[in-house]
Order: sequence, then C-alpha cells, then structure tokens
Amino acid sequence: MCHLILARSLITAVASPRLVQNFSIAKINCKISNRIDHVINEWLFFFKTIENLPFSLTGFRTKQLCDGANSSAASTCGRPLGLGFNFKTGELYVLDFKFGFLVVSPGGGLATQLATGLNGTTFVFPNALDIDQANQIVYFTDAGAIFLSRNLSTIIQSNDTSGKLYKYDARTKTLSLMLNGLSGPLGVAVSKCGAYVLIDEYIASRVRRYWARGPKAGSSEILVNLPGSPDNIKRTISDDFFAAVTILNRHTFQTTSSLGQRINGDLGIVEATVNLTAQYTNNLISEVQEFLGKLYIGSSTASFVGVYGP
Ligand SMILES: *[C@@H]1O[C@H](CO)[C@@H](O)[C@H](O)[C@H]1NC(C)=O
Ligand SMILES: *[C@@H]1O[C@H](CO)[C@@H](O)[C@H](O)[C@H]1NC(C)=O
Ligand SMILES: *[C@@H]1O[C@H](CO)[C@@H](O)[C@H](O)[C@H]1NC(C)=O
Ligand SMILES: *[C@@H]1O[C@H](CO)[C@@H](O)[C@H](O)[C@H]1NC(C)=O
Ligand SMILES: *[C@@H]1O[C@H](CO)[C@@H](O)[C@H](O)[C@H]1NC(C)=O
Ligand SMILES: *[C@@H]1O[C@H](CO)[C@@H](O)[C@H](O)[C@H]1NC(C)=O
Repeated sequence: MCHLILARSLITAVASPRLVQNFSIAKINCKISNRIDHVINEWLFFFKTIENLPFSLTGFRTKQLCDGANSSAASTCGRPLGLGFNFKTGELYVLDFKFGFLVVSPGGGLATQLATGLNGTTFVFPNALDIDQANQIVYFTDAGAIFLSRNLSTIIQSNDTSGKLYKYDARTKTLSLMLNGLSGPLGVAVSKCGAYVLIDEYIASRVRRYWARGPKAGSSEILVNLPGSPDNIKRTISDDFFAAVTILNRHTFQTTSSLGQRINGDLGIVEATVNLTAQYTNNLISEVQEFLGKLYIGSSTASFVGVYGP
C-alpha cells in the first residue's frame, strides 16, 4: 500500500499493491485525479495518522480549481512544499510557498497561518521543513527569491546565497532566524537527538551542518560536497540521511544523473549512491525516503512514485 499526499492538491491517494511491478523501480499509479504538473513536489508519508486527513490551506479552494494541473492556480490554492507531523500533539505543520508557515489541528480542517515572515522580512520561497520531535522545534528553510524564476539555468548560475533557516519553538511559540547566506536550501533534516540539522544547498551542490546544541551551537559548516544538486534530504531509520541529487549538464541543463545518496551526518561522507537515472531519464528527483527496506522516490516532474528495493 502506498499512502501519499500530493502537494498542491493534497489528495490522499492509495495505490493497490498489484500495481507495483517487478522492476527495480516500480511505478505506482496512485489514484491521482489529474496529471501532476511540473511545479509541484510530492511527499510520501507512511504514518497511519495521516491517512485520509483532509485539510485545506485556504477556505476558498475548490476541487475544480485546485486539484488540476493548472500551474497558475498555485497562488490561489497554495503549494505546500514542506509537511511534518508533531508526534506529541498530532498537529501537522505545513510550509507553503505562497501562504508561509501554517499548522493544521489533529482533526484536519482549515490550516491556521502562523507566520509569513519575521521582523519585517517576508518569506519569499518557503521550501523545506523537519521537526525535532524531542524538543518540539520545527526547522524550515526559505530557499530565496531566485527560485521564483522556475528556471534551472537561472537558478544554478545565480550563485545565490540568500537562503535562510528558521526555527519555530512549538512550546514557546517563538520564531527565530538561525542562518543566513544559504545557497538554495531545498532540504532540511534533523539528526536523531536534535544535536544538529542538515541542510541541502541545491545551488552550491553540498550539504551543510548546523549545530543546534553542544559547544558549536549556533554555527554551521560544510558537511560534504556532492556531485550534483541536492533537493530534499530525509533521515533514515538507521539515523543517516538520504539526499535526492540531480547532476545537470552545465550547458543544456538536462539531467545527466538522478541519484539517491546516503550520507553519514556524523562523519560527513557519502556512504552509498543509488543510480536512478535509467528510470527517471530527464525527470528531476526531489526526494528519496527509506521505509521498511525500500526507497520511495519523489519527483517534481514525473507522474509516479518510484519504489526501489529488493
Ligand atoms: C518478482 O520478484 C520476486 C522477488 O525477486 C520473485 O519471487 C517473483 O517471482 C517475481 N514475480 C514476477 C511476476 O516476476
Ligand atoms: C487557472 O488558474 C487561474 C488562477 O487561479 C485562473 O484564473 C484560470 O481560470 C485557471 N485556468 C483554468 C483552465 O482553470
Ligand atoms: C531560462 O533562462 C535562460 C537564460 O536567461 C534562457 O535562455 C532560457 O530560455 C530559460 N528557460 C526557460 C525554460 O524559460
Ligand atoms: C557564479 O560563479 C561562477 C563560478 O565561480 C562564475 O563563473 C559566475 O560568473 C557566477 N555567476 C554570477 C551570476 O555571479
Ligand atoms: C527582531 O528585531 C528586534 C528589534 O530590532 C530584535 O531585538 C530581535 O532580535 C529581532 N528578532 C529576530 C529573531 O531577528
Ligand atoms: C548513472 O547511470 C547512468 C546510466 O543510466 C550513467 O549515464 C551515469 O553516468 C550514472 N551516474 C553516476 C554518477 O554513476
């Protein structure tokens, strides 16, 4: 069974196992009401709590307007690029590129907007979110205005360093800016005990480590340079991380390799690389999530979810 929520339209979809083919990558054709267009990302969630949780970012969305492939509808319907449950309270935190930082109560329903900026700085491209469950801290990134261009060559050639990392303390309900100067932060993942946070820097092709606690608290360093641009990064059950990495031809900006890279966050090394290029050809992979021994692959351009594994 595959339970997933597709970003913009937030359709809960369930795929029948019989649709999983015996390829190294199975194309699960979840019941998606419309083609997934090129402006949305998708996320996989495997927690029972979210099955059929209906929620909405705005009160005025309609299925006709928001569940289709109309990319101009994003400014009306929202485009949630980061989602995460608070396991203690059951609340769902949502980071939306248009509506900012929101929270949905455990029963679903209409989201409550928590912030659209901080201290006079408006979020420009809120993009990735993860939660330190033990300490009730939500980390999220603003990727920077260059991503509004939606043009890969413009984005990569910009060398932009306007990305930011924010943290929201759910206990005190305070929002703070933790890091400035990030180069396309499209992914964020908290380490097991919350001591550090990894941030994918898409433009700079690397992973940065921000120390949340300990002697280096408040500082960050480059953890590892990657062969391509990393989108999302997700912690695995064994407490290392998987980054979805795309290598682009620097002249044509076509994808030459789509990789899942397993990263050791303590040592700063790439422990394994899974090459998904044959299955994804020119699609951009956006997420590699390990679950029960398999890798679930999200893509912002493919209309299927890949399952890689034995
Ligand atoms: C699919 O793969 C499994 C495990 O590799 C194998 O046991 C099974 O026979 C295969 N099924 C088909 C239809 O090829
Ligand atoms: C697409 O969305 C825009 C903005 O909400 C709307 O004005 C337009 O009518 C929509 N187009 C279609 C074909 O639904
Ligand atoms: C992206 O920007 C480049 C350089 O400005 C331009 O040549 C190219 O046509 C743009 N691509 C798209 C898809 O708009
Ligand atoms: C980005 O950096 C590259 C390599 O250092 C340089 O060639 C290019 O001119 C820079 N682009 C911009 C827009 O500054
Ligand atoms: C917001 O601005 C106030 C006043 O300038 C300053 O004291 C505070 O530290 C700022 N907060 C953040 C999170 O930057
Ligand atoms: C991944 O595999 C493709 C062929 O499917 C190959 O062209 C590419 O060089 C490989 N990438 C890496 C980084 O090994």
